[in-house]
Amino acid sequence: MNPDTPLQMLGGLTAREFLRDYWQKKPLLVRQAIPDFESPISPDELAGLALEEEVESRLVIEHGERPWELRRGPFAEDAFATLPERDWTLLVQAVDQFVPEVAELLEHFKFLPKWRIDDLMISFAAPGGGVGPHFDNYDVFLLQAHGKRRWQIGQRCDSDSPLLDHADLKILAEFEQTEEWVLEPGDMLYLPPLLAHCGTAEDDCMTYSVGFRAPSAAEVLTHFTDFLGQFLPDEERYSDADAEPTSDPHQIQRDALDRLKALLNEHMGDERLLMTWFGQFMTEPRYPELVNGLDIDEPAFLAALQDGAILVRNPSARLAWSEVGEDLVLFASGQSRLLSAGLRELLKLICSADSLHVDNLGQWLADAEARNLLWELVKQGSLGFADE
Ligand code: SIN
Ligand code: CO
Repeated sequence: MNPDTPLQMLGGLTAREFLRDYWQKKPLLVRQAIPDFESPISPDELAGLALEEEVESRLVIEHGERPWELRRGPFAEDAFATLPERDWTLLVQAVDQFVPEVAELLEHFKFLPKWRIDDLMISFAAPGGGVGPHFDNYDVFLLQAHGKRRWQIGQRCDSDSPLLDHADLKILAEFEQTEEWVLEPGDMLYLPPLLAHCGTAEDDCMTYSVGFRAPSAAEVLTHFTDFLGQFLPDEERYSDADAEPTSDPHQIQRDALDRLKALLNEHMGDERLLMTWFGQFMTEPRYPELVNGLDIDEPAFLAALQDGAILVRNPSARLAWSEVGEDLVLFASGQSRLLSAGLRELLKLICSADSLHVDNLGQWLADAEARNLLWELVKQGSLGFADE
């Protein structure tokens, strides 16, 4: 993808301009980001998803039994029949994992790394509905899919920003509005992290939110050091073979700190392990229970492919690849696999092709490492046979 091509999705900005001037910095309103946009899912279908056991959903009712009532799904069939005329929102997470036509919309976001995208959430709101003024720790693209929504943006927040006293919802106690727009189907608003915002449905309204994944500094440190620790033998310890005589045996001297810093730097600076950990972390599935492997032996797997079977990525799987020294590594749903440099084009194909079959795999099926990789991905569940 050429970073200097103007994109309708970004209101005519190029990916380079958007990243330089807006991404993680300031909001961008794009009128008709997707012209004549029609939601591939109806409000009824969205409500139907919220009944499913494996789907994460919630209802926010502004004037329920108490202000800003939160109810968590899965919901019973009749849950929506008793709702008031107005002022409520149904939010359904990761609809991209359940509705292929919704997943296809993520193709519009190819100007950003796929592994940064977390999920596509869809909300349906009755007139007046919204989740109240709040901020998110992540970037979000809010695509208006049906009806109209008024978006107000406000101050930059942080974890010290005062919140209403509410156990489940993080609603800001103060909202200092700076701008306001009414979005119609096809319009999109990009918001950087930490910016206060408040969306209110003008009529029956559906909004798609493409949310992003970014580990907190605390997560990076705790998870990476846990990962590193697995590779370090017990005998590798704080060592002071260079110790000098001490004038006070109770004092911890500066040189102890230097030894600790050297120990930390030696391991924290291991780029191979850092990349491996990061790739695994960023490809961890949101719902690991939906990444189920197939118990199949290698000959049976190959015979099925040769017979014309088609492989597709599991919609709940996450894939990415990177270079590690001379080698390549494929990250698949939280696991990593070191591969030889010759497999680069296969990795790209696995991550991006709509489907894999004898025709586009071609010569790869003659390569033992490639065959084994495909088989392992099927056994792990990141790839699966398409239903005929
Ligand atoms: C919504 O779609 O109602 C909420 C999205 C958001 O504010 O992050
Ligand atoms: Co938000």
